Amino acid sequence: MTPDGLIIRDAQTADLLAVRALLVETWHATYDGLYGWQRVAEITNAWHSLENLTAQLGRDGGTFLVALVEDEIIATASARVEPDGAALVTRLYVLPPWQGVGIGRTLLQVTLACFPQAPVARLEVESQNEPAIAFYERMGFFLQRQARFDGRDDTPNTLLMAKRLFAA
Ligand SMILES: CC(C)(COP(=O)(O)OP(=O)(O)OC[C@H]1O[C@@H](n2cnc3c(N)ncnc32)[C@H](O)[C@@H]1OP(=O)(O)O)[C@@H](O)C(=O)NCCC(=O)NCCS
Repeated sequence: MTPDGLIIRDAQTADLLAVRALLVETWHATYDGLYGWQRVAEITNAWHSLENLTAQLGRDGGTFLVALVEDEIIATASARVEPDGAALVTRLYVLPPWQGVGIGRTLLQVTLACFPQAPVARLEVESQNEPAIAFYERMGFFLQRQARFDGRDDTPNTLLMAKRLFAA
């Protein structure tokens, strides 16, 4: 059951140090076993720099949310509209001690509710991240096809998953 006092709101500049710390911690917990500490540190330092996170705040057609319990940021999610109108979930991370109590489900639902016109939601998930794949399947996503993040050779293997939404 989702914890009492869970607050979900738009991220603000003052949140970004905590968001960065959350992403670094959760990335190591999730991906060190697949890629090793060093490679994960390189990727997360590049992708989750304060500069990059700042650039993602208030981006047109996008949403960048944080979830808090008692003023602690415990999860974050981001999404944006694709050219075909689909909602692309670009990030969903819950701090390890808070996983498995319904926060991912609630945050994903709130994220998708930010795109009431979207006919479909899409996301990429690391192809060996079996807990996340199982979570997304539970949330109604289906496997579409294999891909590589950004279509590049030096980035993780991913699976594309999609879920039909009921656009207004
Ligand atoms: C994947 C993640 C976002 C899921 O969020 P969460 O808060 O742990 O999941 P919830 O507690 O909301 O679970 C929601 C449902 O999914 C199910 N679920 C969650 N993890 C699961 C797993 N590993 N296997 C099977 N089902 C799972 C839960 O049982 C629950 O279903 P039910 O209540 O209908 O029985 C979170 O665990 C996380 O951040 N993991 C590490 C980072 C990551 O992999 N992020 C995704 C990157 S693409």
